Amino acid sequence: MNNAKLYKHKKGLQQSDSVYVIENFSKYLRWKDQKETILDVGCGDGHTLCEILLPRIADNVEKVVGADSSRDMVEFARDEYECQNVVFEQLDVETVDVPEKFREKFDHIFSFFCLHWVIKQSVALNNIYNMLKPEGQILLTFLAKNPIYDIYEEMSKMEKWAKYKKDYRKFVSPYHNSPDPEEEVRTILKKVGFHVTICRSERRCYSFPNLATLNGSVKAVNPFLSRIPEEDHESYFEDYDNIMKRSKDVIWEKHNNNDNGKFHCFHELMIVVASKGY
Ligand SMILES: C[S@@+](CC[C@H](N)C(=O)[O-])C[C@H]1O[C@@H](n2cnc3c(N)ncnc32)[C@H](O)[C@@H]1O
Repeated sequence: MNNAKLYKHKKGLQQSDSVYVIENFSKYLRWKDQKETILDVGCGDGHTLCEILLPRIADNVEKVVGADSSRDMVEFARDEYECQNVVFEQLDVETVDVPEKFREKFDHIFSFFCLHWVIKQSVALNNIYNMLKPEGQILLTFLAKNPIYDIYEEMSKMEKWAKYKKDYRKFVSPYHNSPDPEEEVRTILKKVGFHVTICRSERRCYSFPNLATLNGSVKAVNPFLSRIPEEDHESYFEDYDNIMKRSKDVIWEKHNNNDNGKFHCFHELMIVVASKGY
């Protein structure tokens, strides 16, 4: 995903979960002094980092790096938020070779709604470990399970959409079909060398006020739409919405059977606090 302009206004769910995680789990972080350097992996448009995280931890931080694999996201974040102590860099957290300038440089590493996009989980978590200074800590949150992944799968079997979704598995959280996401993530973290404080998958609900808002948020992160001709988007959303309304993880508060009722969508959010060393 790299449409920063679209994403900026359509991330109610991500924003509400990130606030929840920061407000409830940053108490597990130990701050060394007021000169910390922190990294946000998969910072996207920079909003969560600069508007949600930093105001809550500013007293402890001197230097801030936002990193993202998407050049467009990095450029957007630079335009919006770069200043003397906040910089943005392009970095793929799945890379086989983390550049020297990132290695053992960070006291705390954060990541919000990025790691479910990452296939090579062990590589990414190993890179995060190697970017931490000794005794550094991480606070990560990402999707373990979400009904949108079931919709991707069902639509990949529909004749009309199959050709656009052959590789849909690439865009599904690695834990969506896992019987025990917490155990899987914990096992990788320990193997990499982390001391795990919290590794929890929480069932959460986000309520979209109506179908149009829900579809706007889908558009902002849907990896297939850019492959589908513009004139077919309406039909794509008709099929998408019909499947979504049948999902066991979506409760639709119908109003006169039109689409103005609320949509309560349930997902499982992975939350990790861990440290390097102890
Ligand atoms: C849903 S956005 C989240 C952005 C931001 N953290 C937030 O909370 O709003 C996911 C971001 O992860 C980035 N991303 C995906 N795979 C990545 C990778 N392998 N390395 C670094 N960033 C990645 C995407 O480019 C995108 O900007």
